[in-house]
Amino acid sequence: MNDQASRLRSMAQGHHADPPLFAARVMAITSGKGGVGKTNVVAGLAQSLAQQGQRVVVMDADFGLANLDILLGLSPKYTLEHVLRGEKVLEEILLESPYGVRIIPASSGIQELTRLDTAAELRLVQGLQRVAETADWLLIDTAAGIHDSVVKLLMAAQEVILVTTPEPTSLVDAYAMVKVLHLRDAAKPLWLLINNGQSLDEAQETVEQLQAATERFLGKQLRVLGAVPSDPHVLQAVRQQKGVVDLFPRSPAAQAFRALAGQLLGQVSLQPDGFAAFWRQLASDDAP
Ligand SMILES: Nc1ncnc2c1ncn2[C@@H]1O[C@H](COP(=O)(O)OP(=O)(O)OP(=O)(O)O)[C@@H](O)[C@H]1O
Ligand SMILES: [Mg+2]
Repeated sequence: MNDQASRLRSMAQGHHADPPLFAARVMAITSGKGGVGKTNVVAGLAQSLAQQGQRVVVMDADFGLANLDILLGLSPKYTLEHVLRGEKVLEEILLESPYGVRIIPASSGIQELTRLDTAAELRLVQGLQRVAETADWLLIDTAAGIHDSVVKLLMAAQEVILVTTPEPTSLVDAYAMVKVLHLRDAAKPLWLLINNGQSLDEAQETVEQLQAATERFLGKQLRVLGAVPSDPHVLQAVRQQKGVVDLFPRSPAAQAFRALAGQLLGQVSLQPDGFAAFWRQLASDDAP
């Protein structure tokens, strides 16, 4: 490893004499079951936070089926793959979306973040550190399910938002996800977001069911972020490849996203070394 590489590595590992302040709050958005609305939630929260004056960077970490860019009508010319190969620096692949939200596009089928070789890892960490310096939030859209690489990403994030719908299948898979995360790190803040419910009552019932199970069997208290109702505007916005917050600001879903962004702003504290801690954990060789 050359000098610069070892300096960066030790900085990422927290041994730097005068560590810079990387203040972005790193939030990973996940679900047990696929297709419950994670990517829409990430886009909605990102745009609502940005509307409230926050600097937001979104990373698409669903490498299997990257589609955050499609959802927002963006066509990336370059993706993380080019950064990892050393052909582009991270700033060159960032996409701008409405309200100044910056997107780091993934690409389908590249190596998982947790299995990078040293050179690729350094390119990514250098880039992310520079980007995180100018961000208040780094939101990470993950793949669904309890795969090792996803769990590792979730463990590294400062806090996790778990999305579920009221459907029993989604709920059972959400419980399985809570269990896996709780067994690895009982202190990890875990927020519950109920998406696509037919009514507030249904969402509330879902919260109570999941909370009852996690408290009884795991002794785990979930934090409740809130609910986004089932809203046909979401599908209309998807079809037009725009965020629902942007296209239908007065729709029930957009109003819900604004309220949830306000919740996050009020309740997620800034960790002075938030990003460095994220990377330290992600780059560690511990089994996930
Ligand atoms: N609140 C909502 N109201 C109506 N439809 C919704 C809502 N949330 C999501 N949907 C619809 O559900 C579908 C899946 O959403 P999305 O792609 O965000 O899920 P996902 O969890 O990211 O999926 P994957 O696991 O494949 O990444 C989309 O077609 C979207 O339009
Ligand atoms: Mg998705």
